[in-house]
Amino acid sequence: MFVIIFGPPGAGKGTQAARIVQAHPIPQVATGDIFRKNLREGTALGIEAKGYMEAGKLVPDELVSKIVADRLQQDDCVAGALLDGFPRSLPQACFLDAWLAERGMAIGLVVHLVVPDSVIVERMGGRRTCTNCGATYHVSVSPTKVQGICDRCGSQVIQRPDDNEATVLTRLATYHEQTSPIVEHYRALGVVADVEGVGSIDRIGDHVIEAITKAFPV
Ligand code: AP5
Ligand code: MG
Repeated sequence: MFVIIFGPPGAGKGTQAARIVQAHPIPQVATGDIFRKNLREGTALGIEAKGYMEAGKLVPDELVSKIVADRLQQDDCVAGALLDGFPRSLPQACFLDAWLAERGMAIGLVVHLVVPDSVIVERMGGRRTCTNCGATYHVSVSPTKVQGICDRCGSQVIQRPDDNEATVLTRLATYHEQTSPIVEHYRALGVVADVEGVGSIDRIGDHVIEAITKAFPV
């Protein structure tokens, strides 16, 4: 069961991914989280990704694709994975499709969260992210129980450095230019479910789970 949770920056991919992995026993593979973890640990990968992330640009395709391929070879991905933030360009999508096809597998569903740009800018201003486990909050929509402290692991929550308005606008432009064409690539394969991404997190979550249940009936 290989599923992509897809949408613009701030669409709610991470928020909904956390719910999906509770309902289905597949790991979330989030490239942005992998880069942020490497950055915290000061690895060469983290240092290389930093400049691209802070500029709102894509990390080069070859580098990201290799990281995802390595991750998908791990034992916990044998039954599938939930890809969050990958693929993000047509070359990445083609790489992924070919990698899966070589192993007799394919993407079974792309959950496309549809959110207009105007909503995104507001959401990102209020987002707070855990410095340790990556859990996501919003100051008004889904705040932490104790201000500034992660509910899940007790570490500090902060505003991501790429969540300032100027970088968010660049990330949106990058999305429209390089990432959104992927939807049509997968639509042609008949695996896209469009889900309205504006409204309550719970209601959107119900629609996401419905789409997954329809694509993967038990
Ligand atoms: P990444 O970390 O993937 O960021 P992104 O795609 O820009 O998406 P976000 O994580 O910002 O948003 P989200 O959709 O997960 O929304 P969330 O659930 O947090 O990538 C960061 C950078 O890494 C990239 O810019 C790039 O440089 C690099 N990178 C990563 N992958 C790459 C790749 N494959 N190739 C090349 N470069 C790559 O929600 C957002 C906020 O809204 C939260 O505060 C949340 O609480 C709130 N919220 C969620 N749902 C709702 C709702 N329904 N109503 C109101 N508020 C809501
Ligand atoms: Mg995210």
